[in-house]
Amino acid sequence: MSMNYAFGFSLFLLVLVALNIFFFYTLNTVGLKSHTFNVPSINIDLTPSVFKEIYDYLNYLPNQYKSINSKFALKQKNLISSFNTTKNDKTESIWSETQNWISEDSLFPHENGAAGKILHAIQTTQIALVDNAPKGTQLKLLLLLEGKQKIFFKPKRYNLNHVVNGNIYAGFDRHNSEVFAYYLAMVLNFKWIAPSIIRRIHLHKDIVPFATMGLKKTMIKNDSGSLCIYGKCFYCRKNETVCPDQNGEIEGAAILYLDKQFKIHKSPWRRSYSNRKMEWEIDNAFCKKVKGSMSTKLLLNLIDVAIFDFLIQNGDRHRFEVYKDQIILLDNGKGLGNPAVDELDILAPLYQCCMISPSTWQKLEMVSGGSLTNTIKQLAALQGQKLATEEHFKAVERRLLKVYATVQYCIGKYSRAKVLKNWLA
Ligand SMILES: *[C@@H]1O[C@H](CO)[C@@H](O)[C@H](O)[C@H]1NC(C)=O
Ligand SMILES: *[C@@H]1O[C@H](CO)[C@@H](O)[C@H](O)[C@H]1NC(C)=O
Ligand SMILES: *[C@@H]1O[C@H](CO)[C@@H](O)[C@H](O)[C@H]1NC(C)=O
Repeated sequence: MSMNYAFGFSLFLLVLVALNIFFFYTLNTVGLKSHTFNVPSINIDLTPSVFKEIYDYLNYLPNQYKSINSKFALKQKNLISSFNTTKNDKTESIWSETQNWISEDSLFPHENGAAGKILHAIQTTQIALVDNAPKGTQLKLLLLLEGKQKIFFKPKRYNLNHVVNGNIYAGFDRHNSEVFAYYLAMVLNFKWIAPSIIRRIHLHKDIVPFATMGLKKTMIKNDSGSLCIYGKCFYCRKNETVCPDQNGEIEGAAILYLDKQFKIHKSPWRRSYSNRKMEWEIDNAFCKKVKGSMSTKLLLNLIDVAIFDFLIQNGDRHRFEVYKDQIILLDNGKGLGNPAVDELDILAPLYQCCMISPSTWQKLEMVSGGSLTNTIKQLAALQGQKLATEEHFKAVERRLLKVYATVQYCIGKYSRAKVLKNWLA
């Protein structure tokens, strides 16, 4: 009798556990295409229960996070006007202002119209020399513009509506993600990023006459006789070329080159890029270990970057570059892959440490209710550009709500005073 009872009870428990696993798994994969739906590997780590708690907060998110914050209007106006300057007096003076910029608050000048002027110069200045960019994993060119300004050029690999399936770091870099990231950073007041804009260059007019021998060696005629580039990089393959469009042009993200010395750090929250689980994926108290190994300032900075990466779904920041004690938002091409996916674990630094700099939180609260993407759209429109499909804009807004929910989760767990204390005082 009692054996039967015990057996029945165990069975009941087993079913309960199975249901739980299924439930958390489903939560974690909302919107994933069904063909990527594999049988979940059974590992009972703590992370999914964090996700469930965060989703609970998402369901009860205060209304203020879903409506426009009136405090943002003035900021938005100033930001837009700083980008609403396309007429350049003299490109040389812009380059020298840019190269000689010294500030503790930003990597480049952006106020009083400087942002728009720099973008315009990057987009239109005549090319003097083109080469393959040194190092790197993806096809990228290095352009020298007249006036001796270097820029990176990441060519377009996908149309805006292409959905990248697979793991979070799958696929080629997205050129539009680089530019989107720049505007996103500007709206969030993260000033440690290089200006970036969509530029179209003509293969036979702008590249071939100015190409180095090294670059010419990595060009190849395709079967219909068009000259294409396969480049020189870790993942560059002869069969994965970039070819001009019907106008003979190649579109890409033109990114201001940073002629600075960085300190490179491995991210404690990097992925394994294999099936192996990293420590942060198993140990929800992982942040304790990180706190012992880096300054609070850097950790808060890393949490800012995690929020930024979560919004665009860049899950590829395995290392980060530090300049003047600030993390530089370099290499933002792995965002905007799939608008249906919100990989919540990109926020691990936030939900595992449960701390955020009050100024970051203030900025985030300011851009609620659609202001974030609305501003990005307006900034891009000033340059006549559309950087993403409507699905991606909606996805960024949806993820912003999840960021709010994550902070609410932390506040619920540790109190507002603890999560948002003035950490650096
Ligand atoms: C940009 O500036 C022009 C002229 O200075 C002005 O007419 C236009 O309204 C501005 N655009 C925006 C979006 O503010
Ligand atoms: C190019 O060739 C490599 C093998 O060298 C292969 O793995 C890859 O799938 C090919 N790419 C395309 C687009 O066919
Ligand atoms: C070669 O490149 C041109 C220009 O991009 C393209 O229109 C054409 O389809 C390509 N041909 C082949 C066989 O890939």
